[in-house]
Amino acid sequence: MRGPHGMRLAIVGNGKMGRTVAALAEERGHAVHVIGREENVGGGALTRDRLAGVNVAIEFTRPDAVVANLERLIQAGVPTVTGTTGWSTELPRVQRLVESRGGALLHGSNFSVGVHLFLRAARELASRFAARPEFGAFILEEHHAAKRDSPSATAAALRSKAREADASREFPITSVRAGFIPGTHVLTYDGPDESISLSHVARSRRAFAAGALAAAEWLPGHPGVHGFEAMLFGEAG
Ligand SMILES: NC(=O)c1ccc[n+]([C@@H]2O[C@H](COP(=O)([O-])OP(=O)(O)OC[C@H]3O[C@@H](n4cnc5c(N)ncnc54)[C@H](OP(=O)(O)O)[C@@H]3O)[C@@H](O)[C@H]2O)c1
Repeated sequence: MRGPHGMRLAIVGNGKMGRTVAALAEERGHAVHVIGREENVGGGALTRDRLAGVNVAIEFTRPDAVVANLERLIQAGVPTVTGTTGWSTELPRVQRLVESRGGALLHGSNFSVGVHLFLRAARELASRFAARPEFGAFILEEHHAAKRDSPSATAAALRSKAREADASREFPITSVRAGFIPGTHVLTYDGPDESISLSHVARSRRAFAAGALAAAEWLPGHPGVHGFEAMLFGEAG
């Protein structure tokens, strides 16, 4: 049922993120239709008929499923937010499709507002330590055992933000996959007598789900391909 002031959302993917987004969307008064893998082999459930009346789709699946889903959603004319990671080599092709169809797509590997502020703080930290070679710099990232990609896309973003301020360092990344950790990223500068760390710890998937919903509320009326930062800070994604 359509919520009082809500949108009609299709949530593609019924995994940890899809379920979290669906629960939060319902709390906010959106009407939710969840599409899981079994009914959607090769994106087959994402037809114009099945999606009639849907304002925005939110896609959280897997690297081997996301591109077919996006192609179908764009062809059906549905503005789409995807948080699925591990498909960046396919982005140019998807981008051309969105542009040729006049569609709207927002993609991002991390939809937490706190992470994006943390990345900016990391760039600042890196600029402060740029002229201090006695400190060794490294990144540690930890996630739950089921996370498939490694290092995380957020760790790669952290390295590239730090390298914007200090290209002389490599910022090597160590990845841990164990237990149920929702996601931890730490940038450390370690010197002979002191150690400085800046860390972000995701306490719950709701931070990512809230960002995905904010993106879904923003996307209609913004044709083209956008990153999460474009929505958050009003910049090119
Ligand atoms: N952007 C962000 O902020 C953010 C945050 C967290 C996670 N992520 C990324 O989001 C993705 C999903 O994460 P997750 O933790 O939710 O993973 P997950 O629990 O493994 O869920 C993925 C779900 O997608 C389903 N699926 C696979 N192919 C599908 C298809 N064609 N149509 C519909 N559903 C399909 C899977 O079904 P089966 O289990 O039946 O195969 C599974 O339920 C990952 O790439 C992860 O890295 C991004």
